[in-house]
Amino acid sequence: MKVMNLKTLKEKALKEIEEARNLKELDEIFKRYLGKKRGELTKILRSLKDLPKEERKTLGKEANELKDFLLRRFEEKEKEIREKIEKEKEEKEWIDVTVPGHPPLLGHLHPLTIVRRKIEEIFQSMGFSIAEGPEIEDEWHNFDALNIPPHHPARDVLSLGKTFYLKGGGIMRTHTSSVQIRYLEKHNPPFRIIAPGKVFRAEATDSSHETNFYQIEGLMIGEKVSVANFKAIIQKFLEEFFKGPLKIRLRPSFFPFTEPSFEVDMGCMVCKGKGCPTCKYSGWIELMGAGMVHPNVLKAGRINPRNWQGFAFGMSLDRLTMMKYKINDIRLFHSGDLRFITQF
Ligand code: FA5
Repeated sequence: MKVMNLKTLKEKALKEIEEARNLKELDEIFKRYLGKKRGELTKILRSLKDLPKEERKTLGKEANELKDFLLRRFEEKEKEIREKIEKEKEEKEWIDVTVPGHPPLLGHLHPLTIVRRKIEEIFQSMGFSIAEGPEIEDEWHNFDALNIPPHHPARDVLSLGKTFYLKGGGIMRTHTSSVQIRYLEKHNPPFRIIAPGKVFRAEATDSSHETNFYQIEGLMIGEKVSVANFKAIIQKFLEEFFKGPLKIRLRPSFFPFTEPSFEVDMGCMVCKGKGCPTCKYSGWIELMGAGMVHPNVLKAGRINPRNWQGFAFGMSLDRLTMMKYKINDIRLFHSGDLRFITQF
Protein backbone atom coordinates (compact mmCIF):
# COMPACT_ATOMS: atom_id res chain seq x y z
CA MET A 1 0.00 0.00 0.00
CA LYS A 2 2.72 2.39 1.05
CA VAL A 3 4.80 1.43 -2.00
CA MET A 4 1.88 2.26 -4.23
CA ASN A 5 1.51 5.50 -2.45
CA LEU A 6 5.14 6.32 -3.01
CA LYS A 7 4.82 5.66 -6.70
CA THR A 8 1.68 7.75 -7.07
CA LEU A 9 3.22 10.44 -4.93
CA LYS A 10 6.27 10.52 -7.15
CA GLU A 11 4.24 10.81 -10.34
CA LYS A 12 1.97 13.47 -8.90
CA ALA A 13 4.83 15.46 -7.49
CA LEU A 14 6.83 15.27 -10.72
CA LYS A 15 3.85 16.41 -12.76
CA GLU A 16 3.17 19.32 -10.45
CA ILE A 17 6.82 20.38 -10.41
CA GLU A 18 6.86 20.24 -14.17
CA GLU A 19 3.81 22.46 -14.41
CA ALA A 20 4.94 25.05 -11.84
CA ARG A 21 5.02 28.44 -13.55
CA ASN A 22 6.82 30.47 -10.95
CA LEU A 23 8.80 30.27 -7.72
CA LYS A 24 5.73 30.80 -5.58
CA GLU A 25 3.92 27.85 -7.10
CA LEU A 26 7.06 25.74 -6.81
CA ASP A 27 7.35 26.64 -3.15
CA GLU A 28 3.76 25.59 -2.52
CA ILE A 29 4.40 22.25 -4.21
CA PHE A 30 7.54 21.81 -2.11
CA LYS A 31 5.59 22.43 1.06
CA ARG A 32 2.90 20.03 -0.06
CA TYR A 33 5.35 17.13 -0.40
CA LEU A 34 8.38 17.98 1.63
CA GLY A 35 7.08 20.61 4.08
CA LYS A 36 8.34 19.97 7.61
CA LYS A 37 4.90 19.55 9.14
CA ARG A 38 2.39 18.61 6.51
CA GLY A 39 4.49 17.40 3.60
CA GLU A 40 3.13 14.15 2.15
CA LEU A 41 6.53 12.54 1.94
CA THR A 42 7.60 13.96 5.28
CA LYS A 43 4.59 12.27 6.85
CA ILE A 44 5.56 8.94 5.29
CA LEU A 45 9.13 9.31 6.51
CA ARG A 46 7.93 10.15 9.95
CA SER A 47 5.63 7.08 10.09
CA LEU A 48 8.51 4.70 9.29
CA LYS A 49 9.35 4.21 12.92
CA ASP A 50 5.98 2.56 13.52
CA LEU A 51 6.51 -0.12 10.84
CA PRO A 52 7.87 -3.60 11.29
CA LYS A 53 11.61 -3.78 10.80
CA GLU A 54 11.69 -5.38 7.31
CA GLU A 55 9.11 -3.10 5.86
CA ARG A 56 10.75 -0.10 7.49
CA LYS A 57 14.01 -1.01 5.79
CA THR A 58 12.68 -1.28 2.22
CA LEU A 59 10.21 1.50 2.47
CA GLY A 60 12.70 3.70 4.29
CA LYS A 61 15.21 3.25 1.52
CA GLU A 62 12.70 3.98 -1.20
CA ALA A 63 11.21 6.97 0.60
CA ASN A 64 14.62 8.47 1.26
CA GLU A 65 15.65 7.93 -2.35
CA LEU A 66 12.46 9.58 -3.47
CA LYS A 67 13.15 12.47 -1.13
CA ASP A 68 16.62 12.97 -2.64
CA PHE A 69 15.22 12.61 -6.11
CA LEU A 70 12.50 15.17 -5.52
CA LEU A 71 14.91 17.57 -3.87
CA ARG A 72 17.10 17.45 -6.97
CA ARG A 73 14.08 17.99 -9.19
CA PHE A 74 13.00 20.98 -7.12
CA GLU A 75 16.48 22.40 -7.41
CA GLU A 76 16.58 21.91 -11.16
CA LYS A 77 13.15 23.40 -11.61
CA GLU A 78 14.05 26.40 -9.47
CA LYS A 79 17.14 26.98 -11.59
CA GLU A 80 15.03 26.72 -14.73
CA ILE A 81 12.50 29.27 -13.47
CA ARG A 82 15.21 31.67 -12.35
CA GLU A 83 16.90 31.47 -15.74
CA LYS A 84 13.60 32.13 -17.43
CA ILE A 85 13.00 35.22 -15.25
CA GLU A 86 16.50 36.48 -15.99
CA LYS A 87 16.05 35.97 -19.71
CA GLU A 88 12.71 37.79 -19.75
CA LYS A 89 14.26 40.66 -17.80
CA GLU A 90 17.12 40.90 -20.25
CA GLU A 91 14.75 40.90 -23.18
CA LYS A 92 12.69 43.65 -21.60
CA GLU A 93 15.75 45.74 -20.74
CA TRP A 94 17.52 45.23 -24.02
CA ILE A 95 19.43 48.27 -25.15
CA ASP A 96 20.13 49.03 -28.76
CA VAL A 97 23.66 50.35 -28.52
CA THR A 98 23.59 51.44 -32.15
CA VAL A 99 20.88 54.08 -31.56
CA PRO A 100 22.54 57.52 -31.65
CA GLY A 101 22.67 59.07 -28.13
CA HIS A 102 21.46 62.45 -26.99
CA PRO A 103 24.40 64.86 -27.07
CA PRO A 104 24.90 66.42 -23.61
CA LEU A 105 24.07 70.10 -23.36
CA LEU A 106 27.31 72.03 -23.23
CA GLY A 107 27.52 75.43 -21.60
CA HIS A 108 29.45 78.29 -23.12
CA LEU A 109 30.48 81.84 -22.39
CA HIS A 110 27.93 84.62 -22.34
CA PRO A 111 28.25 86.99 -25.34
CA LEU A 112 29.17 89.85 -22.98
CA THR A 113 32.03 87.73 -21.59
CA ILE A 114 33.20 86.76 -25.08
CA VAL A 115 33.28 90.44 -26.08
CA ARG A 116 34.90 91.60 -22.83
CA ARG A 117 37.71 89.09 -23.29
CA LYS A 118 38.19 90.15 -26.92
CA ILE A 119 38.38 93.82 -25.93
CA GLU A 120 40.88 93.04 -23.16
CA GLU A 121 43.00 91.11 -25.62
CA ILE A 122 43.10 93.99 -28.14
CA PHE A 123 43.98 96.61 -25.54
CA GLN A 124 46.58 94.34 -23.94
CA SER A 125 48.21 93.97 -27.36
CA MET A 126 48.56 97.80 -27.32
CA GLY A 127 50.27 97.77 -23.93
CA PHE A 128 47.25 98.41 -21.69
CA SER A 129 46.88 96.64 -18.33
CA ILE A 130 43.56 95.58 -16.82
CA ALA A 131 42.46 97.38 -13.65
CA GLU A 132 39.53 96.72 -11.32
CA GLY A 133 37.51 98.63 -8.76
CA PRO A 134 34.63 97.83 -6.41
CA GLU A 135 31.01 97.81 -7.59
CA ILE A 136 29.93 99.29 -4.24
CA GLU A 137 31.53 102.70 -4.19
CA ASP A 138 31.73 105.80 -2.03
CA GLU A 139 30.59 109.16 -3.33
CA TRP A 140 34.13 110.48 -3.30
CA HIS A 141 35.37 108.03 -5.94
CA ASN A 142 32.18 108.01 -7.99
CA PHE A 143 31.50 111.78 -7.98
CA ASP A 144 33.59 114.22 -5.95
CA ALA A 145 37.06 113.16 -7.02
CA LEU A 146 35.79 113.25 -10.60
CA ASN A 147 35.13 116.95 -10.25
CA ILE A 148 31.40 116.46 -9.62
CA PRO A 149 30.70 118.20 -6.28
CA PRO A 150 27.47 117.40 -4.35
CA HIS A 151 25.16 119.95 -5.90
CA HIS A 152 26.72 120.08 -9.32
CA PRO A 153 24.04 119.79 -12.01
CA ALA A 154 26.26 117.22 -13.73
CA ARG A 155 24.97 114.62 -11.27
CA ASP A 156 21.74 114.87 -13.24
CA VAL A 157 23.05 115.96 -16.63
CA LEU A 158 25.19 112.83 -16.94
CA SER A 159 22.48 110.45 -15.81
CA LEU A 160 24.70 110.11 -12.78
CA GLY A 161 21.83 111.37 -10.63
CA LYS A 162 20.21 108.02 -11.25
CA THR A 163 22.12 106.49 -8.40
CA PHE A 164 21.23 103.47 -6.27
CA TYR A 165 22.01 104.50 -2.69
CA LEU A 166 22.65 101.73 -0.19
CA LYS A 167 21.02 101.72 3.24
CA GLY A 168 24.26 101.13 5.12
CA GLY A 169 25.98 103.96 3.22
CA GLY A 170 27.77 103.83 -0.11
CA ILE A 171 26.32 103.61 -3.58
CA MET A 172 26.32 101.24 -6.53
CA ARG A 173 28.83 102.79 -8.92
CA THR A 174 27.13 104.56 -11.82
CA HIS A 175 30.17 104.40 -14.08
CA THR A 176 33.63 102.86 -14.18
CA SER A 177 35.28 106.30 -14.04
CA SER A 178 35.63 105.71 -10.29
CA VAL A 179 38.39 103.20 -11.15
CA GLN A 180 40.38 106.10 -12.66
CA ILE A 181 40.66 107.67 -9.21
CA ARG A 182 41.42 104.39 -7.46
CA TYR A 183 44.19 103.69 -9.95
CA LEU A 184 45.63 107.23 -9.84
CA GLU A 185 45.79 107.04 -6.04
CA LYS A 186 48.01 103.98 -6.11
CA HIS A 187 50.16 104.26 -9.24
CA ASN A 188 52.70 106.65 -10.66
CA PRO A 189 52.50 107.62 -14.33
CA PRO A 190 53.18 106.88 -17.07
CA PHE A 191 50.57 104.13 -17.47
CA ARG A 192 47.76 102.95 -19.66
CA ILE A 193 44.87 100.87 -18.34
CA ILE A 194 41.39 99.69 -19.15
CA ALA A 195 38.87 98.86 -16.43
CA PRO A 196 35.92 96.70 -17.49
CA GLY A 197 33.10 96.31 -15.01
CA LYS A 198 29.44 96.39 -14.10
CA VAL A 199 27.68 99.71 -13.49
CA PHE A 200 24.23 100.44 -12.10
CA ARG A 201 21.70 103.16 -12.88
CA ALA A 202 18.20 103.62 -11.57
CA GLU A 203 16.55 104.31 -14.87
CA ALA A 204 13.69 103.13 -16.99
CA THR A 205 14.79 100.34 -19.29
CA ASP A 206 14.23 100.27 -23.04
CA SER A 207 15.89 98.57 -26.00
CA SER A 208 19.16 100.47 -25.43
CA HIS A 209 19.06 101.16 -21.66
CA GLU A 210 19.51 98.74 -18.78
CA THR A 211 19.74 99.26 -15.03
CA ASN A 212 22.81 96.97 -14.97
CA PHE A 213 25.25 97.20 -17.82
CA TYR A 214 28.98 96.99 -18.39
CA GLN A 215 31.36 99.79 -19.14
CA ILE A 216 34.96 99.74 -20.18
CA GLU A 217 36.92 102.63 -18.82
CA GLY A 218 40.20 103.65 -20.44
CA LEU A 219 42.94 105.84 -18.97
CA MET A 220 46.31 106.74 -20.44
CA ILE A 221 48.61 109.18 -18.65
CA GLY A 222 52.04 110.31 -19.80
CA GLU A 223 54.02 113.48 -20.30
CA LYS A 224 52.71 114.22 -23.78
CA VAL A 225 49.66 112.00 -24.27
CA SER A 226 47.27 113.85 -26.60
CA VAL A 227 43.88 113.67 -28.30
CA ALA A 228 45.72 112.47 -31.43
CA ASN A 229 47.00 109.45 -29.46
CA PHE A 230 43.46 108.80 -28.24
CA LYS A 231 42.02 108.94 -31.74
CA ALA A 232 44.66 106.58 -33.16
CA ILE A 233 44.23 104.06 -30.34
CA ILE A 234 40.44 104.03 -30.53
CA GLN A 235 40.49 103.79 -34.34
CA LYS A 236 42.91 100.84 -34.10
CA PHE A 237 40.84 99.19 -31.37
CA LEU A 238 37.57 99.48 -33.31
CA GLU A 239 39.11 98.20 -36.55
CA GLU A 240 40.52 95.18 -34.71
CA PHE A 241 37.24 94.63 -32.91
CA PHE A 242 34.97 94.92 -35.97
CA LYS A 243 37.61 93.35 -38.25
CA GLY A 244 37.73 95.97 -40.99
CA PRO A 245 38.24 99.64 -41.76
CA LEU A 246 35.65 102.02 -40.33
CA LYS A 247 35.09 105.72 -39.79
CA ILE A 248 35.02 107.46 -36.42
CA ARG A 249 34.36 111.07 -35.50
CA LEU A 250 34.79 113.09 -32.33
CA ARG A 251 31.96 115.39 -31.34
CA PRO A 252 32.34 118.10 -28.69
CA SER A 253 30.56 117.19 -25.48
CA PHE A 254 30.72 117.81 -21.76
CA PHE A 255 31.92 115.76 -18.82
CA PRO A 256 33.12 117.41 -15.58
CA PHE A 257 36.10 115.05 -15.42
CA THR A 258 37.49 115.77 -18.89
CA GLU A 259 38.44 118.97 -20.66
CA PRO A 260 37.96 119.13 -23.58
CA SER A 261 35.30 116.41 -23.70
CA PHE A 262 33.82 114.62 -26.64
CA GLU A 263 31.60 111.80 -27.73
CA VAL A 264 32.99 109.24 -30.13
CA ASP A 265 30.73 108.12 -32.93
CA MET A 266 31.39 105.34 -35.37
CA GLY A 267 30.03 104.92 -38.88
CA CYS A 268 27.00 102.62 -38.63
CA MET A 269 27.98 99.04 -39.51
CA VAL A 270 24.44 98.02 -40.31
CA CYS A 271 23.76 100.50 -43.17
CA LYS A 272 27.37 101.53 -43.89
CA GLY A 273 26.51 105.14 -43.18
CA LYS A 274 23.45 105.35 -45.43
CA GLY A 275 20.94 105.61 -42.59
CA CYS A 276 18.84 102.90 -40.92
CA PRO A 277 16.74 102.42 -37.75
CA THR A 278 19.79 101.25 -35.72
CA CYS A 279 21.59 104.58 -36.22
CA LYS A 280 18.30 106.48 -36.22
CA TYR A 281 19.02 107.41 -39.86
CA SER A 282 22.06 109.49 -38.94
CA GLY A 283 24.65 107.06 -40.31
CA TRP A 284 26.51 107.29 -36.97
CA ILE A 285 26.39 105.31 -33.71
CA GLU A 286 27.35 106.92 -30.41
CA LEU A 287 29.92 104.66 -28.77
CA MET A 288 31.55 106.38 -25.84
CA GLY A 289 32.30 109.47 -23.84
CA ALA A 290 35.89 110.62 -23.69
CA GLY A 291 38.23 113.57 -23.22
CA MET A 292 41.50 114.83 -21.79
CA VAL A 293 41.61 114.16 -18.06
CA HIS A 294 40.65 117.28 -16.09
CA PRO A 295 43.51 118.70 -13.93
CA ASN A 296 41.23 118.48 -10.87
CA VAL A 297 40.88 114.74 -11.40
CA LEU A 298 44.66 114.31 -11.54
CA LYS A 299 44.97 116.35 -8.36
CA ALA A 300 42.33 114.22 -6.63
CA GLY A 301 44.45 111.21 -7.57
CA ARG A 302 47.53 112.95 -6.13
CA ILE A 303 49.18 113.41 -9.54
CA ASN A 304 50.69 116.78 -10.52
CA PRO A 305 48.85 118.08 -13.61
CA ARG A 306 51.80 120.28 -14.50
CA ASN A 307 53.88 117.19 -15.25
CA TRP A 308 51.31 114.73 -16.47
CA GLN A 309 48.40 114.69 -18.87
CA GLY A 310 46.32 112.11 -20.68
CA PHE A 311 42.99 110.93 -21.96
CA ALA A 312 40.14 108.87 -20.53
CA PHE A 313 37.18 107.20 -22.14
CA GLY A 314 34.17 105.19 -21.09
CA MET A 315 32.21 102.95 -23.40
CA SER A 316 29.34 100.57 -23.03
CA LEU A 317 30.36 96.94 -23.44
CA ASP A 318 26.72 96.00 -23.96
CA ARG A 319 26.30 98.39 -26.86
CA LEU A 320 29.52 97.23 -28.51
CA THR A 321 28.28 93.66 -28.21
CA MET A 322 24.95 94.70 -29.72
CA MET A 323 26.77 96.25 -32.69
CA LYS A 324 29.04 93.25 -33.15
CA TYR A 325 26.25 90.68 -33.16
CA LYS A 326 23.47 92.94 -34.48
CA ILE A 327 21.36 92.53 -31.33
CA ASN A 328 18.47 94.95 -31.25
CA ASP A 329 17.50 94.85 -27.56
CA ILE A 330 19.92 95.26 -24.65
CA ARG A 331 17.44 93.57 -22.27
CA LEU A 332 18.05 90.20 -23.97
CA PHE A 333 21.45 89.91 -22.26
CA HIS A 334 19.98 89.30 -18.82
CA SER A 335 16.64 87.85 -19.89
CA GLY A 336 17.73 84.25 -19.29
CA ASP A 337 16.06 83.35 -22.59
CA LEU A 338 17.78 80.21 -23.89
CA ARG A 339 16.63 80.89 -27.46
CA PHE A 340 18.81 83.98 -27.34
CA ILE A 341 21.76 82.71 -25.37
CA THR A 342 22.30 79.46 -27.28
CA GLN A 343 22.99 81.40 -30.48
CA PHE A 344 26.50 82.30 -29.33
C1 FA5 B 1 29.88 108.08 -18.57
O1 FA5 B 1 29.45 107.17 -17.86
C2 FA5 B 1 31.25 108.56 -18.43
N1 FA5 B 1 31.82 108.03 -17.23
C3 FA5 B 1 32.09 108.18 -19.65
C4 FA5 B 1 33.42 108.85 -19.71
C5 FA5 B 1 34.52 108.23 -19.19
C6 FA5 B 1 33.55 110.13 -20.27
C7 FA5 B 1 35.77 108.86 -19.24
C8 FA5 B 1 34.77 110.79 -20.32
C9 FA5 B 1 35.89 110.14 -19.82
P1 FA5 B 1 27.74 108.19 -20.05
O2 FA5 B 1 26.77 108.36 -18.95
O3 FA5 B 1 27.46 108.89 -21.32
O4 FA5 B 1 29.20 108.55 -19.61
O5 FA5 B 1 27.84 106.60 -20.36
C10 FA5 B 1 28.82 106.07 -21.24
C11 FA5 B 1 28.20 105.12 -22.25
O6 FA5 B 1 27.45 104.13 -21.57
C12 FA5 B 1 27.19 105.82 -23.16
O7 FA5 B 1 27.84 106.34 -24.29
C13 FA5 B 1 26.27 104.69 -23.53
O8 FA5 B 1 26.79 103.96 -24.64
C14 FA5 B 1 26.32 103.78 -22.36
N2 FA5 B 1 25.11 103.88 -21.50
C15 FA5 B 1 24.68 104.91 -20.74
N3 FA5 B 1 23.56 104.60 -20.07
C16 FA5 B 1 23.29 103.33 -20.39
C17 FA5 B 1 22.27 102.39 -19.99
N4 FA5 B 1 21.32 102.70 -19.12
N5 FA5 B 1 22.29 101.17 -20.53
C18 FA5 B 1 23.28 100.82 -21.38
N6 FA5 B 1 24.27 101.62 -21.79
C19 FA5 B 1 24.28 102.87 -21.30
